[in-house]
Amino acid sequence: MKKLVIYYSFEGNTKLLSQIIAQNLDADILEINPKDEVKRKGFMKYLWGGKSVFMKEKPELEPISIDIDEYDLLIIGTPVWAGTFTPALRTFFDKYDIKNKKIFLFCTHNGGPGKTLENMKSELDMNNVIGVKDFVNVSKNIEVNKNIAEKWVEEIKYKHNI
Ligand SMILES: Cc1cc2nc3c(=O)[nH]c(=O)nc-3n(C[C@H](O)[C@H](O)[C@H](O)COP(=O)(O)O)c2cc1C
Repeated sequence: MKKLVIYYSFEGNTKLLSQIIAQNLDADILEINPKDEVKRKGFMKYLWGGKSVFMKEKPELEPISIDIDEYDLLIIGTPVWAGTFTPALRTFFDKYDIKNKKIFLFCTHNGGPGKTLENMKSELDMNNVIGVKDFVNVSKNIEVNKNIAEKWVEEIKYKHNI
């Protein structure tokens, strides 16, 4: 079974966990990169990010070098922005017609996951979403979250015979 971890990360938390999950699951990994994204900081970051969520923006993405059709199992990760998944993933779901895959979803947040995982699930309704996980305060509790990610992967392998 071919496995792919797909993620967007603005500040590195989701990236770190994606790398751990990919490594432990022996999966390939794909980062979704919006074109010309400026790494804003502080208040501006929340203003810009929040606005782009509320406006349902779809930022243009850098081309990807992987053929998603080749994979049977996808693990898709996002940070939570304003209670939902990030605009980069909105573009991704719109552009790549993901169908008939086994999917696990995860998000990273600071205590308010909102409807992120439910909303992602609705975008992927032509697939079999078989598991979800959220990770809290990753940068403050790196070791704890690494352990949770490793345990989640073990559970996935065991329950789904991967
Ligand atoms: C624009 C913006 C909006 C955010 N909104 C939320 C939120 O609604 N709930 C929450 O718990 N954390 C929120 N956060 C915090 C991030 O979800 C959290 O820090 C996440 O782990 C960042 O992942 P990353 O490092 O991969 O970018 C927000 C962060 C940004 C930049």
